[in-house]
Amino acid sequence: MNILYIGAGFVGTCSAAVSADSGHGALVYDINKERIRKLSSGKRDVIESCLFEDGLAELLIRCKKNITFTNSAPEMKKFIDRVDAIFMCLPTPEKAGEEGQSNLSYYEAACETLAKMLSKRQGGKQSSYVVIINKSTLPISMIDRTKEILEAHKVKNFGIVSNPEFLVEGKAVYDSIHPDRVVIGAENEKDFKIMRALYQRFYTSSSVKYIEVNPHEAEAGKLLANFMLFSRLALCFDVIGRTCESFPRISFERVRDILKIDPRIAPWGLYDSLYAGGSCFIKDAASLAYQLESAGGNAELVRGVLGANNYQLDHFLSRIHAEAHAIIKGVRIALFGAAFKQHTNDVRNSGAIRATEFFLQEGAQEIKVYDPAATDEFKRVFNPKKDAQYKKITYTKSEDACLKSTSMAFIATDWPQFQSLAEIIQKTVKAPYLIMDGRRMLCNSYNNLQSAGFSIIAVGSQFMKGKKV
Ligand SMILES: NC(=O)c1ccc[n+]([C@@H]2O[C@H](COP(=O)([O-])OP(=O)(O)OC[C@H]3O[C@@H](n4cnc5c(N)ncnc54)[C@H](O)[C@@H]3O)[C@@H](O)[C@H]2O)c1
Repeated sequence: MNILYIGAGFVGTCSAAVSADSGHGALVYDINKERIRKLSSGKRDVIESCLFEDGLAELLIRCKKNITFTNSAPEMKKFIDRVDAIFMCLPTPEKAGEEGQSNLSYYEAACETLAKMLSKRQGGKQSSYVVIINKSTLPISMIDRTKEILEAHKVKNFGIVSNPEFLVEGKAVYDSIHPDRVVIGAENEKDFKIMRALYQRFYTSSSVKYIEVNPHEAEAGKLLANFMLFSRLALCFDVIGRTCESFPRISFERVRDILKIDPRIAPWGLYDSLYAGGSCFIKDAASLAYQLESAGGNAELVRGVLGANNYQLDHFLSRIHAEAHAIIKGVRIALFGAAFKQHTNDVRNSGAIRATEFFLQEGAQEIKVYDPAATDEFKRVFNPKKDAQYKKITYTKSEDACLKSTSMAFIATDWPQFQSLAEIIQKTVKAPYLIMDGRRMLCNSYNNLQSAGFSIIAVGSQFMKGKKV
């Protein structure tokens, strides 16, 4: 089949790569020229500097002949003459300053461009049937708006399908090849049939749950799945972690052992962290709350989960003054991790962003950043070369370079390699020194570090003041 992907982000690129690998012909269109250049480069390091996803660069290089990236509208228009299916993989962030309303401008702009091209396909005859498939996470009734846009441009002979994406960043390629479920929301058998052909390998697979529903159910299912996961994290941070922080002699890990033995308590998400960031959980929960309230429903619990997540980061940062009585002004800080979580270069809603803003406001002398993959993306947010207000931020290439001459370390991301930081810290810097562990990466070394004079503030633990050395 000939498949067009609009939006070459995590979702569009990973899905297109997997389709190309299955033998389909994929054209991926994006308005971001730099992204298109990098993804077309055929070079692993260049691809990874744009989208850092395990296995993605190898896959793109391997199926190069089946996949083309473009930012040329005429090329897309030409492809549309013979297209069978179109995947919409556009960002749907939260509208700035609103109470959760989605910013649908990217999606609608892409729909408008597409509609103009579709109405002129096959010289205006529009003889071929085409399905437009929403992979973006959209408001529950969005299919009606999509139809409106297409009809306003007199597009004929089309179907609209909702096919929400459940992949997890960091293992997006694996999840695209081995999804646990494929959800198809369509209005008629014709569209279901096309989707079955498109996803034949999943439709016939015994390990994939293939679910056919209507488009409203598909969108609601995606928003609710994300909310269930998000609320689980908030519960861990704000109830389990908070309990461990509030009483002496409670280890988060040992309490977790007691909880996870119960088969009714699922193991996913039983960890403590400074913040649940990323591009989806927060904006999808905010969108769910907004939609519920607009429909006259009660969104108190949804808003509560959003509030608990925000409180977690504010509270963690406030402990620097309240518990360690530390002063940030004039201090050099080593910031470990810029990505919102391990195995990705995505910094959207990363806890490291708000921590950096906090340190700048408090007058830190220098914020030294180290991340194994997300430095370039973090520089888009804090670029000392382009913006003088960020001149106190420096970027380093290793853990020890980051630690040198600092008197505080802040662990924001759970990169597995940061588990070795306890040893590197003891070799590189001297107590008195404050360690802020926002991921409990060093939990096996807290006693040693404290005995060596290091003070520790960790999520899910009471303050550990360094013992006199
Ligand atoms: N990232 C995830 O883990 C994930 C998982 C499941 C669902 N989703 C959903 O999928 C959607 C896409 O997410 P993403 O993370 O891939 O986003 P992304 O920001 O990584 O990529 C979106 C791409 O769309 C491009 N774009 C914007 N406007 C365009 C236009 N008019 N025409 C063509 N291209 C345009 C951008 O340049 C960008 O490259 C969102 O709705 C998101 O909520 C994301």
